Amino acid sequence: MAYTVPKLTDYSAAALERAAGECIAVCSRESASVRSDADLKAFRDRWMARKNGILTQINDLWLKGAPKEAKREAGIRVNDVKMAVADIIDKAEHIRLELSTAIGDAVDISLPGVRRPIGAEHPVVKTRNEIVSVFERLGYSVAEGPVVETDYYNFEALNFPPNHPARDAQDTPFIAGQQLKPQRERLLLRTHTSPVQIRTMEKMRPPIRIVIPGTVHRNDPPDASHSPMFHQIEGLAVDTNITFGDLKGTLDHAMKALFGSSVKTHFRPSFFPFTEPSAELYVTCFICGGSGKRGTDNAPCRPCKQTGWIEVLGCGMVDPNVFEFVKDNGYDPKKVSGFAFGMGSDLIFLLKYEVDDLQLFFQGDVRFLQQFS
Ligand code: PHE
Repeated sequence: MAYTVPKLTDYSAAALERAAGECIAVCSRESASVRSDADLKAFRDRWMARKNGILTQINDLWLKGAPKEAKREAGIRVNDVKMAVADIIDKAEHIRLELSTAIGDAVDISLPGVRRPIGAEHPVVKTRNEIVSVFERLGYSVAEGPVVETDYYNFEALNFPPNHPARDAQDTPFIAGQQLKPQRERLLLRTHTSPVQIRTMEKMRPPIRIVIPGTVHRNDPPDASHSPMFHQIEGLAVDTNITFGDLKGTLDHAMKALFGSSVKTHFRPSFFPFTEPSAELYVTCFICGGSGKRGTDNAPCRPCKQTGWIEVLGCGMVDPNVFEFVKDNGYDPKKVSGFAFGMGSDLIFLLKYEVDDLQLFFQGDVRFLQQFS
């Protein structure tokens, strides 16, 4: 039977308490049968409506109708009921809200699923993998090192003495606030992957054959062929009796594997503090085939600047001064020799796929990237 507010004849504290308790219990029970928004509205109106809602009735019958000496007690009880009812209605509203949003978010399992396209290898990763696998087939393993490097590994142990002008050529981004440290401990962003030569030789005794892919930084403003961040792949082979002939044979093979068997290689003398002798490796331009001209109208070939040759890497025989830094791990310069090389892998990709702007690699434009996936 539906609840109606009883008129009180007994205004004792106990009777008031009983009446209030019963009223709250009824409200609580009714809230449990709220099933819809319409139910909720009816429930709220029944209890809260200013005109003739249960709370108003209680106010009128229990408080206003109370004899003077019971007013205080009646006020407290009526207030209890008001608070409790407000609370119950609040909760009922919350539950309705949660239910309705849950129903909105519910998944219709009969709908087809959302297809998430799998990404593809980024060109930067693709070339790295290609180059690394050429050397893996020659028995090389892969080593890596930190991008934030110390002056010691990036320069000193690679035979760049402090204040040597060769340091300037690297346009090094230095980490701020390092001035109080001794020079060799100061941090910088590595300008080449060569520091990992030293790090690897500290850990592994000769003979070693490793390739080192990684990110490097130089303070070069971005343009079609420069980027403050780019990628290199370093190589290092150390054993007894490694000769410049091994260097030439290895790199000639690698270039043919990367660019095609008709490519010719050509070494020109160069300088790096950590190799002696040093060389730059050129390959015949695979765009114009070495002629410097393109197409039937003999247009000038851009990638090789009409020379027919493209520079792809720096290399040389490991300088004995470098071995001195890792002598204690078996690299006695009198007993071992080795060669090293380092190439810009983004550049290799640029050349291979005739991309004319290095920035395209780093802008994340899917239309560009898709062409190589
Ligand atoms: N580290 C050199 C550079 O970044 C390349 C290089 C590596 C040269 C190994 C010789 C040997 O220019």
